[in-house]
Amino acid sequence: MCGIVGYVGKREVAPLLVEGLRRLEYRGYDSAGIAVLNENGLQSCKKMGRIDALAAELKKTKLKGHAGISHTRWATHGEPSDLNAHPHMDQSGRIAVVHNGVIENFQKLKEKLEKEGHVFTSQTDTEVLAHWIGVKYQKAMKSTNNGRLPIVSAVEEALRDVVGTYGIAVICADFPDVVVGARRGSPLVIGVGKGENFLASDVSAMIAQTRDVIYLKDYELAVLKPGGFDVYSMTSQQPTVQVSRVEWSADAAEKGDFPHFMLKEIFEQPQTIQNAVRGRINHEECTAVLGGLNLSATQLRAVDRIILMACGTSWHAALVGEYLFEELAGIPTEVEYASEFRYRNAPIEKNTIVFAITQSGETADTLAALRESKRKGHTTLAICNVVGSTIAREADGGVYLHAGPEIGVASTKAFISQITALVLLALYMGRLRSLSAALGKKIIEELELIPSKIEKILSQSGEINKIAFKYKASKDFLFLGRQSNFPIALEGALKLKEISYVHAEGYPAAEMKHGPIALIDKDTPTVIVAPRGNIYDKLMSNLEEVKARKGPVIAVATEGDEAIAKKADDVIYVPSTLEQLQPLLTIIPLQLFAYHFAVALGCDVDKPRNLAKSVTVE
Ligand code: G6P
Repeated sequence: MCGIVGYVGKREVAPLLVEGLRRLEYRGYDSAGIAVLNENGLQSCKKMGRIDALAAELKKTKLKGHAGISHTRWATHGEPSDLNAHPHMDQSGRIAVVHNGVIENFQKLKEKLEKEGHVFTSQTDTEVLAHWIGVKYQKAMKSTNNGRLPIVSAVEEALRDVVGTYGIAVICADFPDVVVGARRGSPLVIGVGKGENFLASDVSAMIAQTRDVIYLKDYELAVLKPGGFDVYSMTSQQPTVQVSRVEWSADAAEKGDFPHFMLKEIFEQPQTIQNAVRGRINHEECTAVLGGLNLSATQLRAVDRIILMACGTSWHAALVGEYLFEELAGIPTEVEYASEFRYRNAPIEKNTIVFAITQSGETADTLAALRESKRKGHTTLAICNVVGSTIAREADGGVYLHAGPEIGVASTKAFISQITALVLLALYMGRLRSLSAALGKKIIEELELIPSKIEKILSQSGEINKIAFKYKASKDFLFLGRQSNFPIALEGALKLKEISYVHAEGYPAAEMKHGPIALIDKDTPTVIVAPRGNIYDKLMSNLEEVKARKGPVIAVATEGDEAIAKKADDVIYVPSTLEQLQPLLTIIPLQLFAYHFAVALGCDVDKPRNLAKSVTVE
């Protein structure tokens, strides 16, 4: 949700900023811009559209300089346009600001400023913040500022008046080798270089330049110069500056030979499952090893209830988790939309563990729900991919996914990793209760076979492409599944609608007759997730109900199920596995179907319209 990159050093800044923005484009892509400092003061270039449009514009304007800030936008206030693109300037034109987040009281601040004669050129909240910083700067110029640069004091003072969330980067023409950053609620990371320093919303923007990073915390303010940096706290707390080494390489954030990140990430899934499982199995005791939970066996045995909170695809993983925890560990489990949970007065009893499930670790609603649970005194754990992210840091413990950077806006490999982590957790908690060693052993054996089984499904990508092509004129789809394949139906529908903009609805198969059956006709295909299992026969009845209404059926079925091929129009086979692990296989054909369908329609798979990967606003 908006990406920020800043740089100060000796190198030419514009190409570095553009390169950084390209790597953050998944965070927003409706407009982009940069501002640089040079002997002429402050110069900027902004363009509606993708980073390519900005890069083309920069070829003409040829901005030179060794310090600058940049932004790729996902509009919140004001439509995408050149004028609303960041950076925004203060009234004097000597201070530039890029911002990720929402200034909730911007209207009030704007009215005050307008009364004082300020003129605004955009509809954004960010421009108001830039002007507000400018006003504070005028005052800071006349003060000693406790030895700090006036622009640093001005940023701090201005932020004290702000209600809302921000990750910002600021430059001022009076300080040609300084970049100031600050955060509250939106991520910001310092990249530590030699004779140069970086600031970005996410490590991927600077991984090609440095692997040493500092994750800023809320209310921290950073001042970057070529030769070093300072971090201040805007509260009475002392900042704890810790340099972390990023383990993954720049290649991990590249497409390689794949046409899209999404396809690359779908094909990485055998590997990502191995990464999530590595070092986390105790074969002897038929259980999982999860040291990061920071809870003893006794504490975990005392857990009476589990709450899983998440948004989007991560919420679908949580639904799979509900089946796993209840079935393997016998613990009552509830799944909550983080955005709903945060505002509800949900009674949570003692001995409840609250899990936040999140790829990015920055989703605003999930973070707020986690904080709300903490405030009420509950143990909060995170199932998270991004190391050092806000949720990972604020939770009492958790499980990292080790999936590597996920760039495609539509989540794929993080989803598989989340389910894998949930399997490990349910196994671990189950083995502390009544789950037998025999079933524990079986789960581990089957889990270790999943990567090769996924390879087998991936090898059918060509056939799935043909099926997707066949249905490319369809405008409505129904996705059906039961038990832990019901969340897979939801996720299959979400994948299709988010990247190809056709209407797709996921439903529990048996519920279909209570409404969605009315939609079925010859032009509305149904994708039914129907692997063999204890309710297979019931699913076959649901399939018949669709066929009886002339609805085309695409079935995801277990290898060797020839009977289903006689009923369905198209079948995609998956290898057999334990019922509890089926979602790890059944989602793969649906991801590929959505991908090929969107490509067939000519959609921009990695950057679907209106979406952003990391939703850091409410
Ligand atoms: C956005 C993304 C989804 C993601 C959701 C939750 O909507 O487009 O792919 O599932 O946010 O994100 P999180 O990082 O918390 O898993």
